[in-house]
Order: sequence, then structure tokens, then C-alpha cells
Amino acid sequence: EQAELGHFTHYMEKEIFEQPTALENSMRGRFSDDDSTAKFGGLNLDPVQWRQIDRILFCACGTTWHACLTAEYLIEKYARIPVEVEYASEFRYRNAPLDKNTLVFVISQSGETLDTLEALREAKRKGYIVLGITNGVGSSIARETDGGIYQHAGPEIGVASTKAFTSQILLSGMLALHLGRMRDLSFGDGREMVAAFRSLPGLVSTVLDQADKIKEIAEKYADFSDFLFLGRQSMFPIALEGALKLKEISYIHAEGYPAGEMKHGPIALISEECPSVILSPHGDTLKKVISNIQETRARKGSVIAITSAGKDFPQDTADEIIHIPQAHDCIMPILATIPLQLLAYYIAVKRGCDVDKPRNLAKSVTVE
Ligand code: G6P
Repeated sequence: EQAELGHFTHYMEKEIFEQPTALENSMRGRFSDDDSTAKFGGLNLDPVQWRQIDRILFCACGTTWHACLTAEYLIEKYARIPVEVEYASEFRYRNAPLDKNTLVFVISQSGETLDTLEALREAKRKGYIVLGITNGVGSSIARETDGGIYQHAGPEIGVASTKAFTSQILLSGMLALHLGRMRDLSFGDGREMVAAFRSLPGLVSTVLDQADKIKEIAEKYADFSDFLFLGRQSMFPIALEGALKLKEISYIHAEGYPAGEMKHGPIALISEECPSVILSPHGDTLKKVISNIQETRARKGSVIAITSAGKDFPQDTADEIIHIPQAHDCIMPILATIPLQLLAYYIAVKRGCDVDKPRNLAKSVTVE
């Protein structure tokens, strides 16, 4: 085990730092020669079938469900196809009416999660085409879907998913590009997205280079028992994931919310006992997010901000600021995820938790 871990202490830590390579492997060989679109050998639909699809339903569990929510933002934005996201465990019993032009996608790191497998079977029973995204080569989900995309992120041992999650978001973004280019996304816009995806491993490395600083922040906040995670738009699922990561490995109570919903409930929790992690990338909603930060601090809640806004985000805006690069919107959810993984990891280590085998959790849940 020690040999495999190299100089890392935990698999989760190793897998966080493997993300530049995992992302590189997920995208390898998957762009067109002119770098204007993504291509996937395993999606066995012809262009006419693709063109007929007018809705996509994603089913998954846990962290992977958050990847699906991110996919919803990316696909609706770049491909303009309506997307729905369901917990697999809900879908399988809900008898949801689906339109005949709905495409079902299941996503699963392991490819063995029973609820996701049963959701896939339920959709197939009803005659739908079901495609998959999985890291599990030859897994049950890989075998039973009509086609799909392998993540090639490499084995993930830590129970809390890290590199598999960012790889799923990358592939969702590339799927959005692939579908967008069959619809209204221009050649130039496609080229910009491909350039952004290609730059991702390098940009992720620059965030990982800040691990020591993030560790210091984590150690300062490790004794709190409640956290809020807030973000808007595609940062909302990332806020959910940040909260889940912290919960899973440090047993701290954490909740993720869309920042705009803060005033409808979570604001009641804010006090000096409850810090907030607020995702504040540059963009249309930055001003709104800064006002959420001000509301939080006015109620004595400390704020750890993750921002790409540079000088538009003055130093005194938050108690702690973690800078991420400003890049194309299609990769911002991935860049924002990295500090949240490190924050959760270092907090859990500081609290003496068994990071790779958190209590009560399993890597792959093959029971109901
Ligand atoms: C378990 C794991 C999570 C994972 C979820 C779905 O709960 O602890 O990390 O996100 O299952 O797993 P899957 O393999 O289907 O992506």
C-alpha cells in the first residue's frame, strides 16, 4: 500500500493531486482534428438520432449526482437541450413519464451502484436508449448501457470521490460541446471550448500549487461544527459537492445552497459559530455573490471565498480568499472544485479522521 501511495499520506490526497493527469487521460484523443468539437467513439447514435433528442435525463447517486447537476448547467448553456437530473434511487420507483425523444444518461464512477443500475434497467425496460459515463471498464453499467463514455480517470480508492468527479464534469462539458456543435454552437465557440479543455490540466496544477495555503486555512477552521457552502449557477452543484465532501470525511455538518436562496432559510444559521464557503467566480453574478458575502459577514459569519475575480474582488471582501484562475465558463466548475476538496481533506486530517475509509460509507454501494 505504501508503495502505491508514494509520498502521499492518503489515497484521497493522492487522487486530488492526480487530477491534472486524470483530466488529461479523460480527454485524450477526444477532439476533432480541427479542435472545434469533441468526439466519442462509444456513443453509438447517428447524427439523425442525436438531432431528434429534445431532452436528456441524467440519473446517478452521491457525488456523481452533483456531476449530473453540473452537466445540466453545461448542456443547457452550450447545447440548448433541456436537461433533467434525478437521483437514481428516486427514478427507479417513480414511474416518471418520459417523452419518446428523451435520452437517458446514467453516470457512475464504479459502474456498479445498484440504484443507478436499476434506474438504467427501468429506463431500458421502457424502451429508452440509455447511455453511460463510467470509470468502471467492463462494469455492469458499462455492459448494460447502449453505449457510453469511459472516464479513463484511473482507479479511485479513496471512498470520497475526487478525480472521478472532476473527470465526469469534464466529460459532461465535452458532451455539451459535442451536442452544441450539432446544433447552434459556432465553429469559433467550439474552438474556444476545446482550447479551454486542453488548458485544464495546467490550470488545475496552479490551484494544487496553493495546497499549503489552503491547508493553513483548513487548520484554522477545523474546529467548527457547521459550515455553509454557497454558489450561484454552475457553482451551485459545486457548493453541494463541497458540503458533501466535508460531511463525508470530517463528520462536520455542512449544507450547500444556491447563494440566492440564502435569504429563504440558511441565513438563520449564520453566526460566528458557522463559517461559509462562498464560490465567487468572475461573471454576471459576482456582484450578487459579493452582496451575499456582505450579508454573511454582517451577521458575524466568517467567509472563505473562492474567487477568480482578481482585482474585482478586493482583499477585504472576505476573511479568507483562495484565488483560482479566470478561464472559460465551461471549466470553471472544475477549477472551483479543487480548493473545496483540499479544504475538506485538510480539515479531516486535522480532526484525525480516517480520510480514506470514513465511517458508515462504502466506495461502491451495491445494495439498496
Ligand atoms: C458512494 C460513494 C460516493 C459516490 C456514490 C456513487 O456513495 O461513497 O463517493 O459518489 O457512491 O457512486 P458511483 O460509483 O455510482 O459514481
